[in-house]
Amino acid sequence: MKRVITYGTFDLLHYGHINLLRTAKQKGDYLIVGLSTDEFNLLQKGKTSYFSYEKRKQLLEAIRYVDLVIPEESWEQKITDMKKYNVDIFVIGDDWSGKFDYLTTESGVEVVYLPRTPEVSTTQIKADLTMFNQNNVSKDF
Ligand code: CTP
Repeated sequence: MKRVITYGTFDLLHYGHINLLRTAKQKGDYLIVGLSTDEFNLLQKGKTSYFSYEKRKQLLEAIRYVDLVIPEESWEQKITDMKKYNVDIFVIGDDWSGKFDYLTTESGVEVVYLPRTPEVSTTQIKADLTMFNQNNVSKDF
């Protein structure tokens, strides 16, 4: 059984996240998501999520591609996670390109950077909603 892992915040879950999770799962048989805790988001990534860790976890667990959600509490835990969960493939969006190549050397996993889905991000959704509210307009989807 091939085991795949990915990490992220996955706040205000959107179709870019779903595309990433679907493609990640297609690379193996079992998908683990390392979900950034609220504290890790705030202290290490400098962002506050709209939904709490528990709510984001519930949403991810309801997705058919996701088999297990674990907390991401530090940058360093990746090395131990690879061993602990017997990971074969580490997958993440290409906004992180090159940043996790060390995992191949240190843990022997394959590292794959997937192209991001264009034109959607949690940050953009938050900014758009603020702008729409201020101007009393809506986006034409
Ligand atoms: N992702 C993606 N395509 C997007 C947005 C995100 O493939 N349009 C991927 C990221 O590359 C990452 C995972 O989804 O591997 C989780 O990303 P996250 O940072 O939680 O989502 P963003 O929408 O990028 O959030 P933010 O704007 O807060 O960075």
